[in-house]
Amino acid sequence: MTNITLVRGDITEQEVDAVVNAANSSLLGGGGVDGAVHRRGGPEILAACRELRAGHYGRGLAAGAAVATTAGRLPARWVIHTVGPVFSAEEDRSATLASCYRESLRVADELGARTVAFPAISTGIYRWPMADAADIALRTVATTPTEVTEARFVLFDEKAYDTFRAALPGGP
Ligand code: AR6
Repeated sequence: MTNITLVRGDITEQEVDAVVNAANSSLLGGGGVDGAVHRRGGPEILAACRELRAGHYGRGLAAGAAVATTAGRLPARWVIHTVGPVFSAEEDRSATLASCYRESLRVADELGARTVAFPAISTGIYRWPMADAADIALRTVATTPTEVTEARFVLFDEKAYDTFRAALPGGP
């Protein structure tokens, strides 16, 4: 079973085997976590993403799926790109959000990554309410069989951190 930890901070600074990127289907960059990962990681990551698009991922990466590249200049060894769902009040997309965490852990296992840092996927530009996203994220990671020993949630601000703490099984 993986040990879940919470930290407040910037995901690009984490000294872990793999950091998860809240990407979009194009894999070619964007704002938020994605912008920071490409900015701090340097052009090697984008070059690897372009190669993926030229090969197996010609149509892009589907929401809920995950794929790894080099982490370029980041302290981590790999970036695992996953695409969260855009929040919808009309349609329940929580299975897709859960899939992001499950698939990222599956890719981490394939790589042999033992420590993995996750952002709060979909809670920024994709507008998922933090408390619900925290619940899905923590529940999914806690119940997914994996060789990952530490799943570290990296929360950007105090409010996100407090919300994740409150959602931890057993309470804050
Ligand atoms: N470290 C940790 N958390 C961060 C950081 C950081 N450096 N920067 C932002 N956050 P978002 P999404 C938090 O928007 O909602 C991009 O354009 C942020 O406060 O990065 O899945 C992609 O290309 C929020 O709580 O991801 C896609 O188009 C959380 O990370 C789209 O945004 C996720 O916010 C994906 O949107």
